[in-house]
Amino acid sequence: MKSCLVVYYSRTGITQEVAQRIAAGCACDIEPIRDMLPRDGVPGYLRCCYEAFARKTPPIAPMARNAGDYELVILGAPVWVGRLSSPMRSFIRANAARLPQVAAFCTMGGSGGDRALDEIAALCGKPLVARMALADREIKGERDRDKIGQFTRTAAAAPG
Ligand SMILES: Cc1cc2nc3c(=O)[nH]c(=O)nc-3n(C[C@H](O)[C@H](O)[C@H](O)COP(=O)(O)O)c2cc1C
Repeated sequence: MKSCLVVYYSRTGITQEVAQRIAAGCACDIEPIRDMLPRDGVPGYLRCCYEAFARKTPPIAPMARNAGDYELVILGAPVWVGRLSSPMRSFIRANAARLPQVAAFCTMGGSGGDRALDEIAALCGKPLVARMALADREIKGERDRDKIGQFTRTAAAAPG
């Protein structure tokens, strides 16, 4: 098994749950992206919408682990207004040059995952070795256990 780090951003815990399941499944390290701005209540929600729509890169806290120390990084983030959530954009912008192989997943209410995954690949400047869009309603079911397992296996088996 190649060395692997799961890096995720989660505002309300759904992406975190998936990230933890992936990290537990492949016994790899996991690291959250920590926001520096409040995102609760209506003002926080509106900030999320604005930053995603305008493709902003808000400040994020320094991270304990270095993505460049791993052979594979798995990125996970929610969809906001049909786009990538802004803290993940900040992380990729700051780390693109040192990213090894990248796999990515997005969580969403129901739509926008493919577009957000395309943005992750574009920001990374390379194709994703595995990608997965998960709707919130799917996350508890058996089908998604299979989907998450398949995603993780594809990422781990990617040559290179
Ligand atoms: C500001 C905001 C915008 C959102 N926009 C979308 C959207 O365009 N499409 C969608 O399917 N879900 C959208 N959602 C729902 C989240 O993507 C979804 O609930 C996700 O699983 C939340 O992940 P988290 O709990 O890790 O933050 C939005 C949520 C927020 C807070």
